[in-house]
Amino acid sequence: RTYKVGYLVGSLAKASLNRRLAGALVKLAPPELAMTEIPFSDLPFYSYDLDADFPAVARAFKQAINESDAVLFVTPEYNRSIPGALKNAIDWASRPYGSNAFTRKASAIIGTSPGKIGTAVAQQHLRSILAFCNSPQMNAVEAYIQFTPDLIDDTGTVTVKETADFLRNFMHEFHQFIIRVKIALPDNA
Ligand code: FNR
Repeated sequence: RTYKVGYLVGSLAKASLNRRLAGALVKLAPPELAMTEIPFSDLPFYSYDLDADFPAVARAFKQAINESDAVLFVTPEYNRSIPGALKNAIDWASRPYGSNAFTRKASAIIGTSPGKIGTAVAQQHLRSILAFCNSPQMNAVEAYIQFTPDLIDDTGTVTVKETADFLRNFMHEFHQFIIRVKIALPDNA
């Protein structure tokens, strides 16, 4: 069967390296994974003052997560954590209390930066956040991608074969993980 994977790109920048990486992952994903971006740049800052009457943009965002079988985070590292806009989006999806969209939802994390540790510290922060949100996370393969110039071209083609193979395997492993989570946690459970 096909699984719906909603992906969140942690960067709002037009020239985002992580958006390029997301484009490559869409191309390298197995055909069983239907990849759709879940945008969040129009969300206002979250406050629980808005819990009683979520704005339409937040309802649509949350619904997109609810309708996904799994969520993939493709995120940069900003100041050794995740970007504030991404954290804000996660906070929206986790509320109101009792309707957290991430609970029992399979997730995986990947990111790229020009630096050698390739978003590793941000990913550890995100793992902590998703653990609290009760999302079953793919623990392995981990993917810390150092973005070297021209690693991924404008069309989302990965120019280094070893990296393309690694990313293809990452998506294969995510597919297998989603299958396992769906068996353990069926939608109607
Ligand atoms: C960065 N950058 C960065 N890189 C890194 O490896 N660790 C870090 O902690 C930071 N911190 C950081 C903070 C802020 C505010 C910015 C704007 C940038 C550099 C970052 O990896 C680089 O800008 C990438 O291009 C970010 O990915 P996107 O936004 O292009 O996808």
